[in-house]
Amino acid sequence: MKILVTGGAGFIGSNFILYWLKNHPGDLIVNLDKLTYAGNLENLKSIKDNKNYSFVHGDICDKSVVDRVMEGTDIVVHFAAESHVDRSIINPSDFVKANVLGTQVLLDSALKNKVKKFHHISTDEVYGSLKLEDKSTFNERTSYNPRSPYAASKAGSDHLVRAYYTTYGLPITISNCSNNFGPYQFPEKFIPLAITNLLENKKVPVYGDGLYVRDWLYVEDHCRAIDLILEKGNEGETYCIGGLTEDINNLEVIKKILKILGKGEDMIEFVKDRPGHDRRYALDWSKIKNELGWEPLYGFEEWLRKTIDWYKQNQDWWKNVKRGEYKNYYKKQYGTE
Ligand code: NAD
Ligand code: DAU
Repeated sequence: MKILVTGGAGFIGSNFILYWLKNHPGDLIVNLDKLTYAGNLENLKSIKDNKNYSFVHGDICDKSVVDRVMEGTDIVVHFAAESHVDRSIINPSDFVKANVLGTQVLLDSALKNKVKKFHHISTDEVYGSLKLEDKSTFNERTSYNPRSPYAASKAGSDHLVRAYYTTYGLPITISNCSNNFGPYQFPEKFIPLAITNLLENKKVPVYGDGLYVRDWLYVEDHCRAIDLILEKGNEGETYCIGGLTEDINNLEVIKKILKILGKGEDMIEFVKDRPGHDRRYALDWSKIKNELGWEPLYGFEEWLRKTIDWYKQNQDWWKNVKRGEYKNYYKKQYGTE
C-alpha cells in the first residue's frame, strides 16, 4: 500500500510516520513537505534509510509536484498546514494559502488519481469557543464557528473536503482533534514552550488570566486513532478525537510542569492576552470510542511526564529549533528574548 503523508516533517506528521512504519512495516510512505519553519527532517532521521520511506520537498499548493507524488497513491493522510494560532493573527494570508488552497489542490489530484481514501486532519478549533461555566462539549454535529484566522482556514478546508465527497464521491474521512502534545512539537506551542523555557531557566509566558481550558491529547494516542479510522472508519464520516483531561486550565497545566521539574510558581509570567482567545475547548469522543473502539492509553499526567522526559533527553533537538527564525518570532510575540 502506498500512503502519501503531507506535512510529515512537522510535529504530528512525523510522529505518525514513525508510528506507521513501526506498526505497518510493509507499507510505502511518501512524505510531501515544504519544510516551513515548522518542518524538521531531524524528526525522521531514524528512518531516513528505510527503503519503504521517501521524502519529497514540495508545496501542496504546487499542482505539478502534487500530481507527481499522487500517482499510484492508495491513501492520503493530510497533515500539512500552517498550524499556530498566534502566527495566523500576525499573517493570515499564509494560512489561507496553505490550508485552503493547498487542500483543494490535493483534493483535485486525489480525485484525478482515484485514491482509495483521503483522510483530512482537522481541529476542534473549527467549533469555536465554549463557556467556562457550562459543561457542554463539542461533537461531530456541532455547528462550525471558527474565531481565529487559523481556525477559519481549517474550517474552509473541512468544507472543501466534505464538498468533494458530496459532489464528486471522493472517499474521504475527517478527524477533528484537540490539542496534541508529545515529542517533536515545535516550541511555539504552549506545552513545549513551557518545558523548554523552564529547562533554560526562563519564565513561562501565560496569556491573560491563564484560566483558558484546552483538551490535551497525547500525539501517539492521536496516531492510533487515525490508524483505526483508516482501517475501519466509514466513508464520508467525521470523528472527534480528544484526551482524558477534564477541564484543566493553562495555569493548572503549568503548575503540573513546574512540580515535575521541581521549579517554583515565580517562573510564571502573566503576559498580554491573545486577541479573540477561545476560552474553553472540550471534545466528546464517544463516537470513535463506540464505533471504532479507540480510547487514550494513559491519563494526562503520565503522558506529560513522558513528554517532559523526552525534552530533557533531546536538548539538542529543541536547542537547534530555538535558534534563528524562532528567536525573531519570540521577540515579536513576547517582546523579550
Ligand atoms: P506543524 O506546524 O508542526 O507541522 C506542519 C507541517 O506542514 C510542517 O512540516 C510544514 O513544513 C508542513 N507544511 C506547511 N505548509 C505546507 C505546504 N504548503 N506544503 C507542504 N507542507 C507544508 O503542525 P502539527 O501541529 O503537526 O499539525 C498537523 C496538522 O494537525 C495540521 O493540519 C493542524 O491543523 C492539525 N492539528 C494540530 C493540532 C495540534 O495540537 N498540534 C491539533 C489539531 C489539529
Ligand atoms: O485545539 C487544537 C489546536 O491546538 C490546533 O488546531 C492548533 O494547531 C494548535 O496550535 C493548538 O491551538 P491552541 O491555540 O489551543 O494551542 P497553543 O499551544 O498555542 O495554546 C494553548 C493554550 O495556551 C491557549 O489557551 C493559549 C495559551 N498560551 C499559549 C502560548 C503559546 C499561553 O498562555 N502562553 C503562550 O505562550
